[in-house]
Amino acid sequence: MKVMVVGGGGREHAIIKKLKENKGIEEIYALPGNGGIALDATCVNIGAKDIAGIAAFAKENKIDFAVVAPDDPLVLGAVDALEAEGIPCFGPNKRAAIIEGSKIFSKNLMKKYGIPTAEYEVFEDMDAALAYLDTAPVPTVVKADGLALGKGVVVAQTREEARQAVKEMMQDKKFGESGAKIVIEEFLTGPEVSVLSFTDGKTLVPMVSSMDHKRAHDGDQGPNTGGMGTVAPNPYYTKEIAEECIRTIFLPTMHAMNAENRTFKGCLYFGLMLTPKGPKVIEYNCRFGDPETQVVLPLLKSDLFTVMQAVANGTLGDMKVEFSEGHACCVVVASKGYPVSYQSGFELTLPEAKEGEYIFVAGAKKEGEKLLSVGGRVLGVTATADTLQGAIDRAYALAKQVKFENGFMRADIGKRALQAYERK
Ligand code: AMP
Ligand code: GLY
Repeated sequence: MKVMVVGGGGREHAIIKKLKENKGIEEIYALPGNGGIALDATCVNIGAKDIAGIAAFAKENKIDFAVVAPDDPLVLGAVDALEAEGIPCFGPNKRAAIIEGSKIFSKNLMKKYGIPTAEYEVFEDMDAALAYLDTAPVPTVVKADGLALGKGVVVAQTREEARQAVKEMMQDKKFGESGAKIVIEEFLTGPEVSVLSFTDGKTLVPMVSSMDHKRAHDGDQGPNTGGMGTVAPNPYYTKEIAEECIRTIFLPTMHAMNAENRTFKGCLYFGLMLTPKGPKVIEYNCRFGDPETQVVLPLLKSDLFTVMQAVANGTLGDMKVEFSEGHACCVVVASKGYPVSYQSGFELTLPEAKEGEYIFVAGAKKEGEKLLSVGGRVLGVTATADTLQGAIDRAYALAKQVKFENGFMRADIGKRALQAYERK
């Protein structure tokens, strides 16, 4: 079997490492991959947004199965283009990927089908949005409709901040056409939980829950980032809450997409907030989360490739997907200054990972024999253990062995989760 994975970050590295456990796979191609992924797959210099290039490569190289991991190619229709060439895929088609591609679509879907989420208003006109803000309660949340590299959400503490965000999106076009329309929504409070799920449109299997750490610095201070670390499972996500989410959010979402003739196949990601009024959806993603995947997949006991094939074939209901009872922690090693301004090109020396330890490379390139850092988030260092404390200690011990002069990491990944267990 020849498998192709579209994407080139830490998430894709985690997917590729897990796929390699299947002995029926002879070759894995990563498009474009990165210098670290090259240790585990054949990297091909085709960008993740080059839909025609991706489809042509798959056809020419007789790829048996494709995994499209990032949001951009999914929203642009990579799965449609691959399926048109007869290539089975893991990932939603363009009609289904809109659940992440348009916040207005997803908010309206939730309203129509009674799925709990924050109250909201949609604006296509800046003056109307600004007028609305004159009386809107604060804090309030301003969201660009389309994809914005994870930066299209502003939690505004004051009306002035909210006005500023509206102007940046609608007038200054900070996110291009993605911000031409916006959503202004109610500010919710409560612990956040990420739940990724496998679904073929008939069956939905939630994966182990996880907790992201979005702020750059310790104590959840500093600017928002793509994620500085994760732990799984998430202590706030109890059995009772899980049952409620399946009943009120997960299955209703799957059925709603079917009813809209937008059957979702792939990984459907639920970003949840456990509010005093019950779990509510903060966001949907049409793909695996990054860096959630780096803690979720190491806890997957079942064979990932078999699960992905079942999702593509619509036979997920026939199989049992199992996760281990253990814990995982992923510590992101980023370039100093991330997410504001940072430099690339520093040499990386990676320690050896033992059983239950993983070094997922998010941003690196090979230069001769050397591995050099590229971009903001460079590594995701993950470890599993029977306890959360054990997983945290192991992940940090491994991360500290990385040689990367320009690197920094948060020192408190998992701390909030430990405290939540202590309070129980
Ligand atoms: P997103 O990019 O949609 O994941 O949003 C980024 C972050 O903004 C989330 O992880 C939340 O912490 C926060 N956020 C988004 N929507 C709301 C909301 N309605 N109320 C409070 N916080 C929110
Ligand atoms: N970690 C959040 C995301 O992947 O969108």
